[in-house]
Amino acid sequence: MSQVFVSRHPLVLHKLTALRDATTDHRAFRDLVRELALLLCYEATQDLTLAPKTVSTPMGLAQGYKAEETIGLVPILRAGLGLVDGVMELLPNVQVWHIGLYRDEKTLRPVEYYNRLPTEPTVQICLVLDPMLATGGSAVATVDILKRWGVRRIKFLGLIAAPEGVARLTAAHPDVPIHVAAVDERLNDIGFIIPGLGDAGDRQFGT
Ligand code: PRP
Repeated sequence: MSQVFVSRHPLVLHKLTALRDATTDHRAFRDLVRELALLLCYEATQDLTLAPKTVSTPMGLAQGYKAEETIGLVPILRAGLGLVDGVMELLPNVQVWHIGLYRDEKTLRPVEYYNRLPTEPTVQICLVLDPMLATGGSAVATVDILKRWGVRRIKFLGLIAAPEGVARLTAAHPDVPIHVAAVDERLNDIGFIIPGLGDAGDRQFGT
């Protein structure tokens, strides 16, 4: 059963609007990507498993909790890199596993160029990080890789999706929840999200 979560948080909507603005420069763009990642991560991790934990306060014992699972952050290179820092600020136990994919400009199909996953999975949950879910090809390929690795719980965390990308990821992996700040109108004929924000990699890295 697929689940698509589009944030309605006022701070997300405010920052997303600034992110889309063509006059936002690279430095501000990167800051916004980091902040949005943090906010969306907060919403995407509401079902983390907790174990009881007792701590000593200056006044006595308090019964509390500890987040138990080790979470794998899987940024899709290169644009996904910008989402890592914000998520890492928030989560206690993380490992970062990079997956290198680029989208062939003619076919729009993802081409894998980097994958150094060890043989056995070392995390309980994976968060796939990519600002853009356009055709969905890159996200589907990444989830394919993670499922082959042996990870059972996988979520996608992005900034802007096209309806086409949501449909494709949902059809291929209905068990993977999709957390984004917006689902836009459509893809154009060269695979860009409309109205979107342009090229998330280029806008982060000044290329
Ligand atoms: C962009 C984006 C996604 C992909 C989305 O990356 O960051 O990874 O395209 O498209 P899809 O949903 O149609 O697969 P791009 O290939 O431009 O590479 P980059 O991150 O290196 O800029």
